[in-house]
Amino acid sequence: MIGYQFMGKAHSHAYRDLPFFFGTEIKPVLRAVSGRKEEAVKDAAEQMGWESYETDWRKLIEREDIDVVDIVTPNHTHAEIAIAAAKAGKHIITEKPLALTLEEAREMLQAVKENNVKHMICHNYRFAPAVQFAKKLIEDGKLGHIYHFRANYLQDFIMDPEFPLVWRLKKEVSGSGALGDIGAHSIDLARFLVGEITEVVGTMETFIKERPAGEMAGGLKGQADNSEYGEVTVDDAVAFIAKFESGTLGTFEATRFAGGNRNKNKFEINGEKGSLRWDMENMNTLDVYFAEDEAGLQGFRTISCTEEEHPYAGAYWPPGHIIGYEHTFIHLIHEFLHGITGNVQPAPNFEDGVKNQAILEAVERSSNSRKWETVRN
Ligand SMILES: NC(=O)c1ccc[n+]([C@@H]2O[C@H](COP(=O)([O-])OP(=O)(O)OC[C@H]3O[C@@H](n4cnc5c(N)ncnc54)[C@H](O)[C@@H]3O)[C@@H](O)[C@H]2O)c1
Repeated sequence: MIGYQFMGKAHSHAYRDLPFFFGTEIKPVLRAVSGRKEEAVKDAAEQMGWESYETDWRKLIEREDIDVVDIVTPNHTHAEIAIAAAKAGKHIITEKPLALTLEEAREMLQAVKENNVKHMICHNYRFAPAVQFAKKLIEDGKLGHIYHFRANYLQDFIMDPEFPLVWRLKKEVSGSGALGDIGAHSIDLARFLVGEITEVVGTMETFIKERPAGEMAGGLKGQADNSEYGEVTVDDAVAFIAKFESGTLGTFEATRFAGGNRNKNKFEINGEKGSLRWDMENMNTLDVYFAEDEAGLQGFRTISCTEEEHPYAGAYWPPGHIIGYEHTFIHLIHEFLHGITGNVQPAPNFEDGVKNQAILEAVERSSNSRKWETVRN
């Protein structure tokens, strides 16, 4: 694993808990973690249960006792590391967004294909049992034709103007702001549940233009170093409308300026026969509405997706005994490792990452041109 902070913790936990809950014959061995600062990476290795550490990711990729490379570093590093790992014949899992640009994303896809390794991108929210169940309801035709996909991904962790100019706020490191950081997850949910997006029109806004220098300090905290101020070069918020291949109309909003919303990743889907809605902050439940329900009893009802019928839920506790954010990563890594051992390409993968990146790129183009833009797949 390369990187060891917020996502490093989420992924390390997933490798450790996978065999515990799923009783699978696949037992990941946490061979080595890599980071640039020796003391910090040594501590991280001890805390998160990695056998050894490296201070240069290139050394980790050269090691013959490693089969899988997990990339949990900022976005500008994904392409270089993934392409090197593919050339070294390692299977790769990388955090989202896949890359900084569509071009880089395509190069990454080409590298994994040429070297015939398995690949996955970490859109973990697909793996909430309630979202998987929503997918099943849609595939079973319970909603009929889908008219609307409506997503908001709302956070508020950078609202303080003194929150530092961390890597997430620099275009050359992150590619984009709210759009690629959280909007990319909504786009993945849309593609997973409804299908491909062909055209978009949108706008991006940066509310706070300058911030003090500083670094991320674990989770979504920032540590300011007030010596100098620098320019924010990414969007604080984005809103866009999308047309799907299926004729569905999509509306998306992603912002880190929605005070009081810590990680409000929500969607609602309206079809000819019913509607579904989900909210990450109540991730175990799915609201469903079916037009065929008896008159007088119609309305949204809330299902606790903790039953055997709900994907992955049976691996844990009795019904009603809920699971959390970290479990979405266990499920994703379950698919990844089974893909490797069963020689099946899991999803979402770099192909999905490229399609997602093409939508991010089209939204940015539209924000600049102030026109509808075609998604360049
Ligand atoms: N799936 C999700 O829900 C989710 C949530 C948060 C972040 N992410 C993604 O995960 C990735 C990491 O984000 P994070 O929140 O864990 O970031 P973070 O700032 O908490 O951690 C980044 C890690 O990368 C290391 N690092 C930074 N620059 C490096 C470089 N040039 N070379 C090697 N190591 C470097 C840091 O030391 C740190 O260990 C990003 O791509 C981000 O978009 C995904």
